[in-house]
Amino acid sequence: MSAGLVTVSYIGATILFVLALGGLSHQETSRRGNLYGIIGMTIAVLATVLSAAVTSYSILIIAMLIGGTIGFRLAMKVQMTQMPELVAILHSLVGLAAVLVGFANFMDPAAIFVGVEKTIHEIELYLGVLIGAVTFSGSVIAFGKLSAKISGKPLILPARHWLNLALLILAIWLGKLFLDATEHGEGLIPLILMTIIALAFGVHMVMAIGGADMPVVISMLNSYSGWAAAATGFMLSNDLLIVTGALVGSSGAILSYIMCRAMNRSFLAVIAGGFGTGTGTHVTAPGAAGEVIAIDAEEAANLLDAAKNVMIVPGYGMAVAQAQHAVYEITKLLRDKGANVRFGIHPVAGRMPGHMNVLLAEAKVPYDIVFEMDEVNEDFPDTDVSIVVGANDIVNPSAQEDPNSPIAGMPVLEVWKGKSTIVLKRSMASGYAGIDNPLFFKENTRMLFGDAKNSLEAVLRVLAT
Ligand code: TAP
Repeated sequence: MSAGLVTVSYIGATILFVLALGGLSHQETSRRGNLYGIIGMTIAVLATVLSAAVTSYSILIIAMLIGGTIGFRLAMKVQMTQMPELVAILHSLVGLAAVLVGFANFMDPAAIFVGVEKTIHEIELYLGVLIGAVTFSGSVIAFGKLSAKISGKPLILPARHWLNLALLILAIWLGKLFLDATEHGEGLIPLILMTIIALAFGVHMVMAIGGADMPVVISMLNSYSGWAAAATGFMLSNDLLIVTGALVGSSGAILSYIMCRAMNRSFLAVIAGGFGTGTGTHVTAPGAAGEVIAIDAEEAANLLDAAKNVMIVPGYGMAVAQAQHAVYEITKLLRDKGANVRFGIHPVAGRMPGHMNVLLAEAKVPYDIVFEMDEVNEDFPDTDVSIVVGANDIVNPSAQEDPNSPIAGMPVLEVWKGKSTIVLKRSMASGYAGIDNPLFFKENTRMLFGDAKNSLEAVLRVLAT
């Protein structure tokens, strides 16, 4: 393929990537956005493979077959709830690729630069390897934590901020040695040492972060993987990689910021780590004691039957139970009976951004009754019944009422302000942040214990009769 055609293909792919990001920002256009992304990536891969830079196809085809098969199998197998783990391990591969390309580029006898060009090329290479190594080891640890292979508890070493600072200074000093090296290949030792330091930094950074902050860390690592790819693009003089890397880098950073706001955490506090107790540890909350009022499916159906305004608040448990179809069946039935049924979605409900929206879209719930938290939070006083489907942290009043709560200040859906709330869950167990929930003990809360799908199907049977 001629250089001109490659450039045109790259420009086309870039435009498609921008359209993909635009499309993915709204539910109605997300499928189209996804399609743009797929077409853009196909064009990008084909143009790169067919460009003059590729001289031998045998290794490339074998590598693409192996990588493609692993990716295909993983994507077919992965559960929606395991998606963050998959994303984490895929980011680690982007980081690893940046490190390997950096080393290969450094050792390439043909890559000889002089003067300012040499300095710029070496800075790109050094930064690419540095960010790539942090992304690689950080993502592997994030994968371990999310898949419960490593404890979700934050590992807080004494004087850890000083340790991080020392590692940073060491990396800068090694960078100077690397740039000062005159002979080709002389900079290899500082480059290897810096890679080891960056790997250790990635491990240390993510080990210090607690379970409840993991989503922010995943999107931060997503951002890092983008910047690593952009640095690789500079190294290889590949414009498409630079643009794509920058798109991933900046959208990951924006997403991290949005999630921090949704959890009322400052980005720096997240990076500093230590929040969230991970799995298993309970934090007792004031107000989370006393009697809970359990009801059965028939009582729940009666409450719903009499309601004019219904708000459904889905959470992680809806995903686990795969209750979205039953939720929609109930929604249809109540709407047919004349009730105003809406969905209130918390920005970090579930285990990944947009998790609930994806499930509701899969069940064909119309987009116009699905609202973001801020759009409906004022409406709870006028709500007759709120149904909390497998949600916990996102409806926990201690975020507002208890300044000592680990989630203090996190915006939550104020279901307790409604006339009555039905909470569907299997037990009194805590949610992701490991905190008790005083909502369950409120006078106007009714607990419908059991798997959310089974419970909703039982309610549906009563409602339908
Ligand atoms: P959680 O607080 O994790 O609560 C989920 C609840 O679902 C649990 O209390 C569990 O109680 C219940 N549950 C589990 N399986 C169920 C089933 N089969 N049927 C019925 N209930 C079931 O979820 P949430 O309210 O959606 O809050 C999300 C939390 O995850 C936040 O702390 C957030 O920070 C964190 N997080 C979010 C993300 C993103 S980006 N969305 C990513 C990672 C972490 P039982 O065990 O008693 O049934």
